[in-house]
Amino acid sequence: MEPTELDALVATVRASAGYRSVNADLIRRIGARELAARRSLKEAVKAAKNKLHQVAGAYLEHTPRYDRWLEALRAAPDGDALRRVCADLMRRHASTQERLPILDAFYRAIFAVVPAPRRVADLACGLNPLAIPWMGLPAGVEYYAADIYDDMMAFTQAFFSIAGVKGVAESRDVLAAPPPGHFDVAFVLKALPCLEQVDKQAGRRILDGVDADYLVISYPAHSLGGRARGMPAHYESQFQQLVAGSPWAWQKLVFQTEIVFIVAKNRL
Ligand SMILES: C[S@@+](CC[C@H](N)C(=O)[O-])C[C@H]1O[C@@H](n2cnc3c(N)ncnc32)[C@H](O)[C@@H]1O
Repeated sequence: MEPTELDALVATVRASAGYRSVNADLIRRIGARELAARRSLKEAVKAAKNKLHQVAGAYLEHTPRYDRWLEALRAAPDGDALRRVCADLMRRHASTQERLPILDAFYRAIFAVVPAPRRVADLACGLNPLAIPWMGLPAGVEYYAADIYDDMMAFTQAFFSIAGVKGVAESRDVLAAPPPGHFDVAFVLKALPCLEQVDKQAGRRILDGVDADYLVISYPAHSLGGRARGMPAHYESQFQQLVAGSPWAWQKLVFQTEIVFIVAKNRL
């Protein structure tokens, strides 16, 4: 088949620094819309890169050295040493960085509500799998992680093997299809505002489509730039619209930097 304008857009975006490792399906989804809306391929490439920056790049350290990160993890195989390296690495992504001060309380409170899981999904995970040592998960738990960076997911897969986690890390546009299989709990942490910038129905799609007994949906209490005024109330009303009319029970947990809604979806 002849390469299309969309193929050219994907190739051009992936040829630029900072976008080499971005999942091609997501570039395609964003690129198709930009090509329809812009006057030229050049403008569409620029707009697609801006959107990718807003939904993903803005959160992550500029050039993560995953090779060095793995060396540090390998040199600290377990216990407190491993937690120290994980905490240090979580600072490289704005989202996990701001969760660090509340990390202990965060997972303690969530797993006081959610029963001990056997299968966990972490959608649009960023570096959150590095918080597994704080989650108190039972031995043998299966952890599925997905985000749109091929290299970040290769790193996460290697982290699973270093930390002895039975896990699969996959580069995936979570808007394209729900994750495979049934999960006891699915984390969708601070991700809906990003996903909704690409697909206004993202919240609905994730809530309906992910096969999990519990969904843990969270929102930031501040913007990336630190603006806080009205954000928790705004996101709470957005969440309430999402669950309005559904049969699901839910409860809210409030932390200094994040508000969390635990939805009991398929309660047995
Ligand atoms: C605000 S961060 C949250 C990261 C993580 N859940 C946390 O709370 O620490 C949003 C994440 O969504 C990812 N992302 C954006 N669009 C995505 C998509 N369509 N599919 C999968 N991940 C996506 C970004 O790469 C980024 O890591």
